[in-house]
Parts: sequence; C-alpha cells; structure tokens
Amino acid sequence: MSGTAVNPAYLQLQHVVKDFGAGAVAVNDVSIDIAKGEIFALLGSSGCGKTTLLRMLAGFETPTSGRIILNGQDLAGLPPYARPINMMFQSYALFPHLSVWDNIAFGLRREGQAKAEIAARVEAMLKLVQLEKFARRKPHQLSGGQQQRVALARSLAKKPQLLLLDEPLGALDKKLREETQIELVNIIEEVGVTCVMVTHDQEEAMTMASRLAVMSEGRLLQVGPPAEIYETPATRFVADFIGNVNLMEGRLSTIEPDHVIIDCADCQHYVGHGITGSQDMLVSVAIRPEKIHLSRHAPDEAFNCARGVVQDLAYFGSYTVYRMKLASGAMLKVSISNTQRHREDGLTWGDEAWAHWSRNAHVVLTQ
Ligand SMILES: Nc1ncnc2c1ncn2[C@@H]1O[C@H](COP(=O)(O)OP(=O)(O)O)[C@@H](O)[C@H]1O
Ligand SMILES: [Mg+2]
Repeated sequence: MSGTAVNPAYLQLQHVVKDFGAGAVAVNDVSIDIAKGEIFALLGSSGCGKTTLLRMLAGFETPTSGRIILNGQDLAGLPPYARPINMMFQSYALFPHLSVWDNIAFGLRREGQAKAEIAARVEAMLKLVQLEKFARRKPHQLSGGQQQRVALARSLAKKPQLLLLDEPLGALDKKLREETQIELVNIIEEVGVTCVMVTHDQEEAMTMASRLAVMSEGRLLQVGPPAEIYETPATRFVADFIGNVNLMEGRLSTIEPDHVIIDCADCQHYVGHGITGSQDMLVSVAIRPEKIHLSRHAPDEAFNCARGVVQDLAYFGSYTVYRMKLASGAMLKVSISNTQRHREDGLTWGDEAWAHWSRNAHVVLTQ
C-alpha cells in the first residue's frame, strides 16, 4: 500500500504507534506522507484511533514509537504550544464569556502581539469567515454553523502551518453540514494551510479531502484520492465501508490476459480485464448499486446479469434503491437515478426483473 503524496512530503508520519497499554494499541504502525496545501482526511468508525493520531500531531499525546516530521523538523519532544500547529476540537471549545472578536484574538494576545497587529489579524479572520457583523456577539448568540466558523477563524489566526480538524462539522445538522463542507474547503484553500481532518462520515471525507485514508483498528487500510478509493477499493472491508456495494463470492473459472470469468451462485461475471489469480480460486466481486441496470426482459448476453424479484424499493428523490431477491436468496441492491418523473417500466414490489451490468462494473477482490 502506498501512502506517498505526489508532491514532496511536507508532513511525514513514519511508523507511528500509540500503545495505551493493556492491549489498547490505538494507532498501529501508521505511515503517511502529506504534501503542502493538501486537505487530508482520516476516515474510520468510532474508536479506530483518529483522535489519538491527531493528538499526537498536535503534541497532546506522545507516540510510543515512530516519528512525526513537519517541514523537515522532527516534532519529538516539542510541546503543543511550540508546534506551528493548531487543532480545532470537535466541540469547538469557544470561550462562552468572550465575544467572537475576543475569542479570535485570544491566542494572539497570549503571544504578546502588538494591539494594532492583533486588530488587523482579527478583522481579516472575521472577513474570511464572513462574520464581521457578529464580532460583538457571544458564542451562545450564534447558530451552530456560525460557531464553527468562529472556531475556524480562531484556529487560523496564528497562521499555523498545519491545521488539525477533529470531526469539524459533527455538531451541525445534515443540510448545514453539506453547505459548510464546501465553505470550509474554500477557506482552507484560500489560506493555503495544510490540513489533516478526521471524520467518521464518508461523504464528508469524499467531498472535502484531496486524499483520504481509511482507518480501522489503528491501521491504515488504503490511502488515495476519493474517487480511487471508491472505484478501486483494495479490500472487501474498504469496498463495504465506503458507499454501498454488492459483494458476491465466486470462483475463478476462466483466466485470460484480457478477461476473467467468475462463477457465482446467481450469475456468471465476465470481467473485462485480467487479474492475477489461479484456476478455481475463491474471490469476491464488488459491484456498486448505481452500476447495475434493471429491465423486465432478459438481456442478450448470458454473462453479467441475474434474474430477481423486487423485494422492496426506497425512494430517495433523486434516485430509487431497489432490493432484488435473487434465486439463491441473496439480495442485490440496485440504484436507479430518477431522471424521469415516472419510470417507464413501472417496476414495483413483487415484480420480476433482470439486473444487468457492464464488463467494467466489477472490482475483483482477493483480500
Ligand atoms: N488516554 C487513553 N487511554 C487509554 N485508551 C485510550 C485513550 N485514548 C483513547 N484510547 C482508546 O484508543 C482507541 C482509539 O480512540 P480514539 O483515538 O479516540 O478513536 P476515534 O477518534 O477514532 O473515535 C479507543 O479504543 C480508545 O478507547
Ligand atoms: Mg474521535
């Protein structure tokens, strides 16, 4: 697995381990190279070690072993305040008794900067996050989204070289979250700061990050740009974790340089590229629901199709998800985008239909 950035690494994690003792290895041999200006996301379910990794970057936690290097400097032994790093906490941790203005100025005052300099920087930050009109308010007089922007402005005020965001939008509701994701990326890119964010929300990671790492039980499973991880997951776990997927177990029955055939319980897959494997090897075939089509009539080809019965369907507005029960009893998820107001074939509960997909819809997984 390659965690190497395209550009020279600005932030390097080398075999970083955090062992809390008593069998609790929160971060287990993590190596990543992150380029300057990147927005890098660590994505994983709760308890997989994301916050612990960020806290080691910030200096609140000491690695059990391994090295963290920022811009050529080994950070070992440097206390948090001496690192050119700012961490924005999940809870925002704004000072409730201070105004927006004073919250943003807080770190600058502690550094003993000149008054005029502080004022100029605070005004610039307020402008950046579009909160000029709210400078005199207290945090409780702001919406969740506005509080999030104050926390961001405060984090950026000291011009950190590295910005760490722990579940930055966790406190916001879904709609506001989606709007704020793009806003946040725009601000980070405008400032040009390198950013490592952690989230358990895959859509958030995919929308915001230039690259992401899927993390499980303290380890990185796969690192790459969002589209690469979605379209070519390396393992069953990653395929299943990112987005929706149909996983089918099968046996390699034909292996040619330009194609392979995989026999599964409900269908024969014709995969339009070669893979390294041996005759009769057991593999998993992953197909995303949106890469499958439905029709009432049997397709011409014997490959890449399966007959089933519509078990249920869920309407999501822009698309509908059908769950097809196949002959073996297995379920197949099919997502059809609602480009028309009504489906011509009017497929509904209990209807029989054919699911079919193309020769390049599959990902063949061997681990
Ligand atoms: N100070 C600590 N002492 C012991 N175990 C800890 C400590 N901090 C975190 N852990 C454990 O390390 C694991 C990872 O935690 P954390 O990094 O908070 O995960 P995440 O942020 O991905 O939810 C969890 O099993 C957690 O219980
Ligand atoms: Mg956490």
